[in-house]
Amino acid sequence: MPEIVSQTGRLRELLQTPRAAGASIGFVPTMGALHAGHARLLEVARRQNQFLAASIFVNPLQFDRPEDLDTYPRTWEQDLRLCRDCGVDLIFAPTPELLYPRQQLTFVESPSLAAHLCGRFRPGHFRGVATVVLKLLNLVQPNRAYFGRKDAQQLAIIRRMALDLDLPVEIVPVPTVREPDGLALSSRNLRLTPPQRVLAPLLYRSLRAAAEAIDAGETSVPVIRQRALAVLSPCPAESVEYFEIVDPETLVPLDRVAAPVLIAAALWLGATRLIDNLSWPATSD
Ligand code: PAF
Repeated sequence: MPEIVSQTGRLRELLQTPRAAGASIGFVPTMGALHAGHARLLEVARRQNQFLAASIFVNPLQFDRPEDLDTYPRTWEQDLRLCRDCGVDLIFAPTPELLYPRQQLTFVESPSLAAHLCGRFRPGHFRGVATVVLKLLNLVQPNRAYFGRKDAQQLAIIRRMALDLDLPVEIVPVPTVREPDGLALSSRNLRLTPPQRVLAPLLYRSLRAAAEAIDAGETSVPVIRQRALAVLSPCPAESVEYFEIVDPETLVPLDRVAAPVLIAAALWLGATRLIDNLSWPATSD
């Protein structure tokens, strides 16, 4: 069973032994409600490191809607089993009071990266993510930290934070895990009603339609977008929050495809918000 620790002092103490022995430390930060997508992150991290740490912390700082924080799935026993099965050595699971023992007055922001895609609709979300990730990286001081490609904007912001702030950690992207029908795995999928679950794979199919249009030589983003949105037409009107083709590093929306792009979309099905993305051309990792 992994060692479970909630105090930051004890965490540092426990990490001293592997560090002193020269073991590489892999770290997978999570908010719990673990599924096969997280298992993939843990498996990749397990293969690449001698010591594997994970965190389970539902970070209040990154929730722009309080009801989302209250209803965020919490599946502690199941999470522990998954961590054990994936060979996790240590789980850091602080309470909000332990991780934020005083009012937080310092934050990490990447305003130009957060201005696009999800950030347009989730004020403060990426500031909360970057701030907690920097805190966790400072506490764990891993050699490598692992993030899923499904949260492409989060990954772009964390990669840039690591570069801009000279963090001594390698940020490792891990491919999205999908259901057989293409739906990207997410803790939020648990909230879909059966009719919503039937519509949900259209999100991935719309991304594929865009990638196929580019493969076929189309470069006009409005034309590509139109083809992709046609795939989403069975979804209720207004359900598409955004469908964008952006520069993969700056996340700036493009009018024309002339180089590698990120195709990203967000779809509301009832009260559930799904996001997904594809890189074009497809990445090999
Ligand atoms: O992707 C997540 O689960 C969270 O945003 C993260 C990176 C664990 C920060 O709370």
